[in-house]
Amino acid sequence: MRIVLRLGGSVVASPVNTDLISRYVEVVQTLSKQKHELAVVVGGGTLAREFIAIAKKLSLGEKDQDEVAISISRTFAQLFLKKMSRSKENKIAITLEEVSNFLRKNKVVVMGGLKPGITTDTVAALVAQRINAQLIVKATNQDGIYNKDPKKYVDALKIDNLSFDDLSKIFEETKHKAGIHQIVDPEAIKILKKGNIPLIVVNGFNPNNILDAVIGKRIGTFIN
Ligand code: UTP
Repeated sequence: MRIVLRLGGSVVASPVNTDLISRYVEVVQTLSKQKHELAVVVGGGTLAREFIAIAKKLSLGEKDQDEVAISISRTFAQLFLKKMSRSKENKIAITLEEVSNFLRKNKVVVMGGLKPGITTDTVAALVAQRINAQLIVKATNQDGIYNKDPKKYVDALKIDNLSFDDLSKIFEETKHKAGIHQIVDPEAIKILKKGNIPLIVVNGFNPNNILDAVIGKRIGTFIN
């Protein structure tokens, strides 16, 4: 199967968790041995946000702020790749064209951000579209999608299955609450819906959840 793994910065990089990074490297190697093809998209987490704030303080514009955040996510991608391949000389992908080429060559490709003005979720969706992925798994800091923000509401319920349209509706309903952290970028949802690419959102703090999601176990939230 061709899979995109979207590794949340909130999981491996906020704060940086080297143990988790190592375990994710093992998960990717396991999937690769099982003959899956993988594109891993790593986020920049709090460090990326700190650099955005620094750039802002320096009165730099949004494009510049995004560019420094992208650099941070690429640094994490680089660490991931170096840990994974050790002796092999591999490069992280920085364009969609490189994603296709590296995937053909190595069967695994690792990357961070792509361009200003989008989120890493959208990068993962664009990659999935580009390589005709059959599945995208997002490893995040909560167990899946809830009907309302689980950090604010104790009665929030996790949803096991939903359609892309239902997900958009949940986002619509919660949009007016300023500052809500949307667990999946609506822009990414649009791309995945159009490309008919299912998405599974799982708790990233247990990397084995990725293996379970790939073999079709009921875990997290399945969106299609
Ligand atoms: P994200 O917020 O998408 O990554 O990127 P993350 O840290 O993995 O997020 P979680 O784990 O889902 O919370 C951080 C910022 O980097 C810039 C954007 O400003 C984005 O908000 N970015 C990232 C880009 O401009 N372009 C990219 O391709 C990727």
